Amino acid sequence: MGMTGTASAPAETFNYRVVRQFAIATVFWGIVGMAVGVLIAAQLIWPQLNFDIPWLTYGRLRPLHTNGVIFAFGGCGLFATSYYVVQRTCQARLFSEKLAAFTFWGWQLVLVGAVITLPMGFTSTKEYAELEWPLDILVVIVWVAYAIVFFGTIVKRRVKHIYVANWFFGSYILTIAILYLFNNLELPVSMWKSYSIYPGVQDAMVQWWYGHNAVGFFLTTSFLGMMYYFVPKQAGRPIYSYRLSIVHFWALAFTYMWAGPHHLLYTSLPDWTQSLGMAFSLILLAPSWGGMINGIMTLSGAWHKLRTDPILKFLVVSLSFYGMSTFEGSMMSIRTVNALSHYTDWTIGHVHSGALGWVAMITFGSLYYLIPRLYGREKMARPELVNLHFWLATLGVVLYIAAMWIAGVMQGLMWRATSEDGMLTYSFVEVVKATYPFYAIRLLGGLFFLTGVCLMGWNTWLTVRGQTGVNPKVPLETLDPRTPHPTAVPASA
Ligand code: HEM
Ligand code: HEM
Repeated sequence: MGMTGTASAPAETFNYRVVRQFAIATVFWGIVGMAVGVLIAAQLIWPQLNFDIPWLTYGRLRPLHTNGVIFAFGGCGLFATSYYVVQRTCQARLFSEKLAAFTFWGWQLVLVGAVITLPMGFTSTKEYAELEWPLDILVVIVWVAYAIVFFGTIVKRRVKHIYVANWFFGSYILTIAILYLFNNLELPVSMWKSYSIYPGVQDAMVQWWYGHNAVGFFLTTSFLGMMYYFVPKQAGRPIYSYRLSIVHFWALAFTYMWAGPHHLLYTSLPDWTQSLGMAFSLILLAPSWGGMINGIMTLSGAWHKLRTDPILKFLVVSLSFYGMSTFEGSMMSIRTVNALSHYTDWTIGHVHSGALGWVAMITFGSLYYLIPRLYGREKMARPELVNLHFWLATLGVVLYIAAMWIAGVMQGLMWRATSEDGMLTYSFVEVVKATYPFYAIRLLGGLFFLTGVCLMGWNTWLTVRGQTGVNPKVPLETLDPRTPHPTAVPASA
């Protein structure tokens, strides 16, 4: 067993095939999921855009959007990067060729199943867990295979140390398995209809224990895994503080688990549970910012690179949005703030500052790093388009979230406004009318964001087709001459 810092497996030990497949799928599903997002954003302005076809109604397309961006775009991005990172940092080929291929095709089958069943109106009605029981079973089987491939690779690693990115990826795989399984316990009554086994408020509690930790582990911990590999790689600097990475890992994993009730403030959930959720959500700010600081400070000594390197811009700006949305989330967990924000577009703004600003931006940065390497190119075919994508995405998020903040606070204030004799000042329709301009700005922001992803698709196509860079005939598995990252193995190992 090679246990030294310079241990380097022969390059052909890496399975890049499945990483390539997932990377391309990420770009593809990103375009699909965000196009549906743009469509539903437009429907909120022009409801006629459902063309009176049940399949295209808002209520059916909205879960298609959320499943498309979270599980298809985000999920494929996480499969791609976790498979790449675990191989590179463990200096070992993926545990099983066949199982890895199965996770790709199985996951695509789940996603195609979602694209068909959600517009047809088949839904378990639980947010972010809408898929009906046959698809749930498939998800669980694929996920078990994923866990075997990932942890199997860790077991056969050729370096002693388990690099911190793998801790984050590993905890996301384990936690999502548990959450998904328990939240989806359901009694099927027919092929495409089931009912949750939990009654009443317990169902709500389990749902938001799942929902919040889906945010915490599917949309955060896992993407921190990406951060811990791609930020130091692209910056050419070691992680700012290895100790901080361990401390904030455990603090984050422990704290997230308790914060779910902040989705159920002022409901029939017992009061003490709500207070507990609020308290843990406030505590959660500390480990969240620990992660952000660790990522951003990794750039110390390399700040000048930000001026010229669009990949680094993506990565660093995503971390700023991570910091911003977690601060905002902690504030929104305070009961009195939530009394204003809940039910309004403020929540939607918060969601997308996390989802577009953090999740999507770090994925773009990581993929721009990854794609040329996977295909043996020196760089993306059109580096200037990466820069353009960065500015379109940044402008898009800012328009989106600023519009939703203003709309949200306005809605909250208008709903609660009363005249001296205690009558409501505004009718609901007046509030809807006042929101239109902000829906239009959000749509514009979404269009910018979507245009950026389409550019990425085109750039990826050109890169894969090999219009630039090295000879595509060079055997791909032996192309990556880069040594493992200096922090992949501590100097003492
Ligand atoms: C072009 C980009 C996007 C546009 C235009 C867009 C638009 C929308 C719209 C219109 C809604 C429904 C809001 C409502 O019901 O009032 C929504 C919901 C949602 N979107 Fe997006 N979206 C985009 C990208 C994304 C991405 C990349 C993610 C995740 C990675 C995401 C995650 C979500 C989630 C989780 C919700 C549900 C929020 C909630 O229930 O509170 N979106 N989106
Ligand atoms: C310290 C971290 C965070 C805390 C304490 C937090 C807190 C909150 C709170 C209080 C709400 C509103 C609940 C309601 O009124 O219904 C919320 C909603 C939401 N947050 Fe966060 N948030 C955090 C980070 C994030 C991040 C980084 C993302 C995305 C990547 C995110 C995604 C969401 C989503 C999708 C919802 C909407 C759930 C729904 O109702 O469908 N949050 N969050």
